[in-house]
Amino acid sequence: MLRGELLQRKMTHIIFMFVCSIVTGAALARHPFRQPAPNSTNVTVYRNGHKPCTLFSNRLRVYPLFAFHTKDLHKDLIPSGPIPYRRDPSQSITGKKLSDLVEHIVFELMSKGQKVKTARSTRDGIIIRDKNFDYKTLHGLIIFKCKQYPFVIKLFMEKPDSFFDFKSTGVEPTFFFYMGGGANRHLTGMTRIKNRNIVQEAIKQIPRWKNHIEIIRKWFWLPKQAQDLHLVGKNIGGHKEIRTCIPSIYAVIEDLIDLKHETITLVKKKKQRMILELCNDLHIYIDPHPNNYAFIKDPNKKQFKIALLDTEHFPTMAGMQKRVRFKCHKNWYTFLAQNYLKNLYFQTKQDLISLQNSTSKVSLDKPIL
Ligand SMILES: Nc1ncnc2c1ncn2[C@@H]1O[C@H](COP(=O)(O)OP(=O)(O)O)[C@@H](O)[C@H]1O
Ligand SMILES: [Mg+2]
Repeated sequence: MLRGELLQRKMTHIIFMFVCSIVTGAALARHPFRQPAPNSTNVTVYRNGHKPCTLFSNRLRVYPLFAFHTKDLHKDLIPSGPIPYRRDPSQSITGKKLSDLVEHIVFELMSKGQKVKTARSTRDGIIIRDKNFDYKTLHGLIIFKCKQYPFVIKLFMEKPDSFFDFKSTGVEPTFFFYMGGGANRHLTGMTRIKNRNIVQEAIKQIPRWKNHIEIIRKWFWLPKQAQDLHLVGKNIGGHKEIRTCIPSIYAVIEDLIDLKHETITLVKKKKQRMILELCNDLHIYIDPHPNNYAFIKDPNKKQFKIALLDTEHFPTMAGMQKRVRFKCHKNWYTFLAQNYLKNLYFQTKQDLISLQNSTSKVSLDKPIL
């Protein structure tokens, strides 16, 4: 792409984000002395030893806020025994060693914070993404690649006072909060393994894709000294009170896809078209963003496979209530922008209240795939 064209694109992006952030503030501004009505929807988050934090908002929904529980993660926890490498099964590392490694990354983040940001690494990991992580308050999502082993660690951290502080972890969390009825990375991260399994089963049934998709292994990790965040909702979706508890810190450990093995024989446009066709066949259960896919060479054949890197349940993030199909990525971006603006400005109080308990037609619980 030409430099001028790239610059122009970047400028349009920045202007769009700037306008959105200004209008968001204006739309949500309230008089500072205005008290919340006694029966208004609110969710309190607390954890032992921390001050509870409450958010009053009609925009909060039962799904996703009360859809997950710490015990749901237990069945997919990383085993302690040997885990063979994806590309070379003659080599392995124990799950225990990987767990200790994650434990140490958390320790380093907590003890060194900003120094990790500057170094872009810890003793055992290299940061591959931290744009949704706030080093000052240590919350959000941070992604590491292990230095010595072919695994990736996606680490999620939240505290009561950071849980609804979506604005401090980048631009996307703001979009997802309003579209997804209180969705944040911490909640949607918990969909990554269940949705991976749903997508894996669905792909087996689609002749066109079944031999061409690589679905990497994923496990949850919980700290040794695990602490739960307790969520208490009041006057939400017809519930006087509703509760759940979710881990304050958890991680998804998964196989590394070496992006150096990406094929260069396909042009970008063709890759994007294939991604969108795949996502349409999967009813957009996964995020069509091109960075979530790697076109890797299949070592056994002269073909390539599409590896799915990000299996977050997209309808949960974007608050999608029904099936959609997209013609192209532009069409998808426009849909997201319209959905965001509709949720932010064009919903009446009654609309928001009825959405609080709505069940999506593209849900994780009753997948249509
Ligand atoms: N298993 C993996 N192997 C190699 N790179 C990965 C892997 N998972 C993620 N990445 C890299 O990290 C980026 C962000 O990961 P992703 O799961 O998509 O997080 P997000 O939800 O923030 O988009 C990806 O675009 C990719 O470049
Ligand atoms: Mg992604």
